[in-house]
Amino acid sequence: MNLDRFPRIDLCHAPTPLEFMPRLTQHLGGPQIWIKRVVFTGMALGGNKARKLEFLLGEGLQQGADHVVTLGALQSNHVRQTAAAAARLGLACTVLLEHRHPNPDYAYLHNGNVLLDGLLGAEVVYRPGGTDMAAALKQVGEQLRSTGRRPYLIPSGGSNPVGTLGYVKAAQELLQQAKEKSLRLDHIVVASGSAGTQAGLVVGVATQASTVTVQGFAVSQAAHLQHPRVAALALATAQWIGDLPEIPPEAIRVNADYLGQGYSIPTPAMVAAVQQVARLEGILLDPVYTGKAMAGLMDWVRRGHYRANENIVFIHTGGQAGLFGFCDTLSRPTQASSPLEVPQRQKGL
Ligand SMILES: Cc1ncc(COP(=O)(O)O)c(C=O)c1O
Repeated sequence: MNLDRFPRIDLCHAPTPLEFMPRLTQHLGGPQIWIKRVVFTGMALGGNKARKLEFLLGEGLQQGADHVVTLGALQSNHVRQTAAAAARLGLACTVLLEHRHPNPDYAYLHNGNVLLDGLLGAEVVYRPGGTDMAAALKQVGEQLRSTGRRPYLIPSGGSNPVGTLGYVKAAQELLQQAKEKSLRLDHIVVASGSAGTQAGLVVGVATQASTVTVQGFAVSQAAHLQHPRVAALALATAQWIGDLPEIPPEAIRVNADYLGQGYSIPTPAMVAAVQQVARLEGILLDPVYTGKAMAGLMDWVRRGHYRANENIVFIHTGGQAGLFGFCDTLSRPTQASSPLEVPQRQKGL
């Protein structure tokens, strides 16, 4: 399925690497675990949203936009990457940040992505938690239009059918890389938030008639809410592309057991997953998305959910800037309980 007919601009370093995780695989003693490092898209610390922004801003420029407006939670990676893309394209940028965290500390309020949004030159507008952010976005768009600007509005997480095309393309890239390595992929595992990444992967896998499953670990809401969100976006994206085989209901897999008390609220399993992947592989996950998805993957491997001869790809969607917004949580003493989880040389530090 060729996506070339859709407007797109080049923002990403691609293909992003597909690598084996030998020490994590050995540590868990189960299936072979691979990592697709989507984090290396390159723009302003990278991350998954750059792939959506290629299509979104392709459309925006085609429409003659001179101002980009988007929204997100305070430590939104999507917002930071949108601000970077706008800067790179010479577009003005306004971002609406919602105070969604119940107990933010100083770092959450001022460090990480918040710091970078300002550095990247975005106009930052804060909104209290519980604000109807979609309505607020529309309102800013109308205000800008009334002053003669031509705003392009990007919804939460860039997750509409246009942005989701970025992950259809990413799935095609991943399957091609696996083919080149003669690697049979059995499962893809990904964090699922505004749903575009998961929905795009599902559609991308369908375009290639691949049997690999796409498992989303929900990071913002319960599975019974996230499941229809992913399904509806996958359907809308498939219709947007047109001429695609139907997406069977079983292709939409969502689990929310590792969400904890809610979006961006840390869990012990997230902290352990972030620490273990850092110490075993030298790879930095993030506290809001990939840390919780990896906690799910690791737990499922331990519970024998996968067969030992299976190949799993974890999609590293980025988010490391968020680490610096959670220093209190992540700098507490290690939660690891076995010597394997904390390499010896670290103990004396
Ligand atoms: C680092 C990271 N991973 C995963 C996601 C989830 O992607 P999506 O919103 O497309 O579900 C996000 C969304 O902001 C993110 O920033």
